[in-house]
Amino acid sequence: MPDTDSDRSPKVPKLILRALLAFTALLQKAQAVDNGLALTPQMGWNTWNTFACDINEGTILGAAKALKKLKLDEYGYHYIVMDDCWSLHSRNATGYLQYDPSKFPNGIKHLADEIHALGLGFGMYSSAGKLTCGRYPGSLHFEDKDAALFAEWEVDYLKYDNCFNEGQSGTPLISFERYRAMSEALNKTGRPILYSMCNWGEDSPWDWAPTIANSWRMSGDIVNVFDRYDDRCPCTDYICRLPGHHCSLMNIINKAAPLGQKAHAGAWNDLDMLEVGRENLDFEEQKLHFTLWAMVKSPLIMGHDIMHTSDQTLEILTNKDIIDLSQGRWGVGFRSYKQAHLQLWLQDSTDGSGNMVVALINSGEVDGKFAIQFEDIFLDEWERRKFGYQVTDLWTKEDLGTVKDKLLVGVKRHGVFVGKLTLTGGPGVRPKMKIFHANVDEL
Ligand SMILES: *[C@@H]1O[C@H](CO)[C@@H](O)[C@H](O)[C@H]1NC(C)=O
Ligand SMILES: *[C@@H]1O[C@H](CO)[C@@H](O)[C@H](O)[C@H]1NC(C)=O
Repeated sequence: MPDTDSDRSPKVPKLILRALLAFTALLQKAQAVDNGLALTPQMGWNTWNTFACDINEGTILGAAKALKKLKLDEYGYHYIVMDDCWSLHSRNATGYLQYDPSKFPNGIKHLADEIHALGLGFGMYSSAGKLTCGRYPGSLHFEDKDAALFAEWEVDYLKYDNCFNEGQSGTPLISFERYRAMSEALNKTGRPILYSMCNWGEDSPWDWAPTIANSWRMSGDIVNVFDRYDDRCPCTDYICRLPGHHCSLMNIINKAAPLGQKAHAGAWNDLDMLEVGRENLDFEEQKLHFTLWAMVKSPLIMGHDIMHTSDQTLEILTNKDIIDLSQGRWGVGFRSYKQAHLQLWLQDSTDGSGNMVVALINSGEVDGKFAIQFEDIFLDEWERRKFGYQVTDLWTKEDLGTVKDKLLVGVKRHGVFVGKLTLTGGPGVRPKMKIFHANVDEL
C-alpha cells in the first residue's frame, strides 16, 4: 500500500508529536554556541568608524562615559568594543599579545575594570589571521593564548576579523575550522565571551557559524552611503567571492534579505556597524537604516562620534519601538516583496498576539503614496487577512486608525514607513497556507 501523506499524518498520536517537538527544541538549543550570550542581538558602540587606529584609554573611556551620560545603556546599548590597533607589533617572548603602553598606560585590565564599573561590557578585537587588518599580530595559531589573555583581562566580547588569513578560506569547512579554533579557545577560558565573527560573509557563515559564534558578518564592510554601486564592494548578492568594503546600505539590505531564515537566539546575521549619526546620510536614510537593522535582528553597534551625539541622532538611536523590533518578541524580519525601488518587509509577533510589523522602503528618488495589500502582508495566512488591524506609525507614533484589506502609507524618498499592526477583535489565527501574491500598488 502506498505510504502517502494523507494516510499518515492524521494518525500521528499527539504524544509522538509532542516528543518530536521537544526533540526539535533540543536540537535548536544545541545549534547555538552555548555561552548563554546574545539571546537578543548585541547592542553597543565600537571605536573603528570614528577613531580607526587613533584609540587610547582616554578615547575609549570617554566614549563609555558619553554612552552612560546619554543613558543609552537604559535602551540596551551595553558593549564598548575596542577595535583594531590596540597592541604592539610583536608578541612577547612567551608568545602573548602585548598592549601598547603608550595608548594604555594603565593596561587593558584597568580599562576593562573602568568600563565594568560603569555597568557596561568590554569588547576586544583580533583577527583569524597572521595579522589584523591594521597589521598587528593576529590570533591564527595563537587562539588559546590570546583567549586566555582576553579572559584574564575580563573581556566580555570578541570581534574576530578575517584579514591575512593565509589562504584558509574558500570552502565552508576551511573557514569553519579556522573560526572554530577561537570559539573553542574562548569556551576553554570558562568566561562567557560574546563571539562576534567578522569574516564578511565568506564561505556562507550563516550555514556553519550558528554552532560556534553569536553573530557573523554577512557582507563586506559598510560605508555611510545610501545606495551606490562601488567596485570595492563588487557583489550585489549574498554569494560573493570578494566581499570588499564600501558596501552601501541598500547593497547590504539586498544581500541580507534571504538570510534571516538562518538567524535565531544567540546566532545572528551581522549587517555591520550602524552609520547612524555619521555624515552623508540624511534623516530619512538613517531611520530606514536603523529600522532594517532592527527588523533583521542584526547587532546594533553604534560607530558615530558618541561624545558629540546630536539630538537627531539620539532620537533615532533611542526609538524604543524600533529597538523593540530587535530585542522584543518579534521574529526575524523578512522581505515579502521587491519591485524596483520598493521593498515590503514584515516581522511577525512571537507572543501569540497575531500582531505584525510592516515596513515599506522607498529607495527611489521621489516621495510616494502606496497601498500595501493584506495578501502581501499575511502571505501564507488567509485567516489573518479577515481581521481589522489598528496601525501605529513607529516613527511618528501616529495612530493611523483601523484598516482592513489594505494599508495606505506615504513614504519619503530614501525613507521607510514602519507600522505596527495590532489585531483587533480576536486572537491571532494562523493556519498554514503556501501561497504568494506580490502586489504593492503605487498610487
Ligand atoms: C562551553 O561549552 C559547553 C558545552 O557546549 C557549555 O556548556 C559551556 O557553558 C561553555 N562555556 C562557556 C564559558 O562558554
Ligand atoms: C608575556 O605576556 C604574558 C601575558 O601578559 C605574561 O604572563 C608573560 O609573563 C609575558 N612574558 C614575558 C617573557 O614577558
